[in-house]
Amino acid sequence: MTLIAMISAKGSPGVSTAALAFTLTWPAPVLLAECDPAGGDLLAGYLARYELPPDRGVLPLASSALRGTADADLTGNLIDLDAPCQQRMALPGLTEPAQSASLNMAWTALGEFFSRMTSRTVLADCGRLAAAHPPWSLLSQADLVLLAVRPHSLRTVSPAVSALSALRRQLPPGFVEQSVGLLLVGGGIPAREVARHLGTPVAATLPWDPQTAAALCGDGRGRRRAPLMRHGAAAYDTITELIAARSVAGALSRRDTEPLPVTS
Ligand SMILES: Nc1ncnc2c1ncn2[C@@H]1O[C@H](COP(=O)(O)OP(=O)(O)O)[C@@H](O)[C@H]1O
Ligand SMILES: [Mg+2]
Repeated sequence: MTLIAMISAKGSPGVSTAALAFTLTWPAPVLLAECDPAGGDLLAGYLARYELPPDRGVLPLASSALRGTADADLTGNLIDLDAPCQQRMALPGLTEPAQSASLNMAWTALGEFFSRMTSRTVLADCGRLAAAHPPWSLLSQADLVLLAVRPHSLRTVSPAVSALSALRRQLPPGFVEQSVGLLLVGGGIPAREVARHLGTPVAATLPWDPQTAAALCGDGRGRRRAPLMRHGAAAYDTITELIAARSVAGALSRRDTEPLPVTS
C-alpha cells in the first residue's frame, strides 16, 4: 500500500507519539515499524504494562529481509495493538542503540519489503536526522517522508531548514519536492507561514495535548475523543490526499517531458 517514513530534524517534536496516534486511529490496516536507530519506545512506553516476548522486532525482521524470508517471518515479529483484529500492528524497535550498526546494511531490504507490502500502510518511525546513521535508504523508498516540526517559534522551526538540506543531499534529485511533507505538532506560527518559510507543504497538523501524549508514552490513561486522537484520525485524509495529488502531478509532468511519438 503506502510507506510513510516519519522523522524529525533534531530534538523531540513528537514523532513517536504522532506515529502511535496515527496507528491507533487510522481507518486502514496499519503497521507501525519502529526504525529509529536510537531505539524504539513502544515496549518501554505504551506497551510497558504487558508481558511481551522480547525476541520480536525490527532486528530479527531485518535479518529475515536480508535472507529473503521477511514475508514468512513478519507476523511472528509483530505485536497486535488491538488483538485479535490485526488491524493495528507494531514492529518493536531496537532495545539498544548499539544494535543499529547491524541494521545499516538492512535498511534497503527492509524499505523494499515495506514498500511492496500490499495489505497495510506502513508508518516507519525513523527518529532524528541529526542522530548517527539515519536510515537513508529506507527514507528514499517512502511514498511520503513526514518531517515533524514544532511551529512554536523560529527557534523550533529552523532546524527543519538544515534537515531539508540534508534530505536534498542524501536522497535522489527531486525527491524532497515530490515526497516530503511537514507534520506540525502544537501551535505557534501559522501553518501557511511555516510551509512558505520551508518551501514544503504541510501534510498534517496535531495539537499540543500533554495528557494524551503522556498516555501514549504509557503514563496514565487517554481518551479516544481527545484532541490528539481526533486530529490523528483526521490526518489520514490530508496525508493520503497529499500523496495522491503529488503522484498525479508527477505522472503529468513525466508525460509532458516524454518525447512525442514520431509519425512517418
Ligand atoms: N502532541 C503532543 N502534545 C503534548 N506533548 C507531546 C506531544 N507529542 C509528544 N509530546 C511529548 O513530548 C515528548 C517527546 O515525544 P516523542 O513522541 O517521544 O518525540 P520524538 O519521537 O520526536 O523524540 C514526550 O514526553 C511526549 O509525551
Ligand atoms: Mg521518537
